[in-house]
Amino acid sequence: FFYPFDRFKQEEISFDDEQEGLSDQIIIRFSHVVAENTPKGLAAQKFAELADEKTDGLVKVEVIPNGTLYTDEQELDALMNNDVQMIAPSLSKMTKLAPEWGLFDLPFLFQKNEDITSVFSSEIGNSFLRLHEDENITGMALWSNGFKQMTSSESSLKKPEDFKGQRFRIMPSAMIEEQFERLGAEPIVMPFDQVYMSLEEEKFEGQENTISNIYSRRLYELQNYMTISNHGFLGYAVLMNKEFWDHLPEDVQSSLTDAMDETTTWMLEESMKMNKAQLGVIERESSIDIHYLTEEEQGKWLDNLQPVYQSFLQHVTEDFVKEFVEERV
Ligand code: LMR
Repeated sequence: FFYPFDRFKQEEISFDDEQEGLSDQIIIRFSHVVAENTPKGLAAQKFAELADEKTDGLVKVEVIPNGTLYTDEQELDALMNNDVQMIAPSLSKMTKLAPEWGLFDLPFLFQKNEDITSVFSSEIGNSFLRLHEDENITGMALWSNGFKQMTSSESSLKKPEDFKGQRFRIMPSAMIEEQFERLGAEPIVMPFDQVYMSLEEEKFEGQENTISNIYSRRLYELQNYMTISNHGFLGYAVLMNKEFWDHLPEDVQSSLTDAMDETTTWMLEESMKMNKAQLGVIERESSIDIHYLTEEEQGKWLDNLQPVYQSFLQHVTEDFVKEFVEERV
């Protein structure tokens, strides 16, 4: 058992000393691995502002970006140990806890942004948020960073054969791994904070990510080709330490839920705008060759990738995802 205010009393004492009346302030440390100027970075900041506003300053959310506190390999453990109270890992990285999250890594699962928002707000979305209560994790929301694109230093990626022999950095997810293998490429799992340097050191030839990550980490400067393929989806599970959450007063929980709902609505819209705007900047300001995958080319990718749906069904036990996928295979 622990009391949520203990952390504040131990660690923020100097700040608190000077400010009469704030001794009951609740500190939530929110750690994430991307830059501040990204959909996730901005949403974390917005949540902090709204939490402050809706609790009249009682709750202070400290956002720690860029993986400076915990890398994506460490942050789930840090959350479960209450070293931080909030994180927002990619859904792909959640497959470490349950293969069900691999649903969101299935190729061409979503066709358009509206598909994402409708699944997120459905019963399936809610089921995912409750999936890890036994592991001391409460799901607060699902956020979206939209669609992933492919980049390479070697060749323009149009046909499945173009992937042959190239190494691609991927997030840790069996479903992503299988896709690259089915395209004849070699997937290499690597944490996000090492991607830029490893590309510089030519540890792999290509990678997949959203425009906002390709832009904010300047990955486009190290790659010669980009295919706007929208082949995969990058979402985030916004998670809170459950014990911490359960010990918050009910009115604080309700204000934080409101703050999160408002943030989520804002971020789903904002991430679309941001990815679009930053693609424009890359197009204007860099020499990277950009190819838009045609429908015919997409069909060929899918011919190779479709079996991943069957593999997924063999991995999972939860009926709510099985039903969802079975409708599509
Ligand atoms: C990645 O590792 O490529 C992404 O998950 C980073 C992020 O959190 O957007």
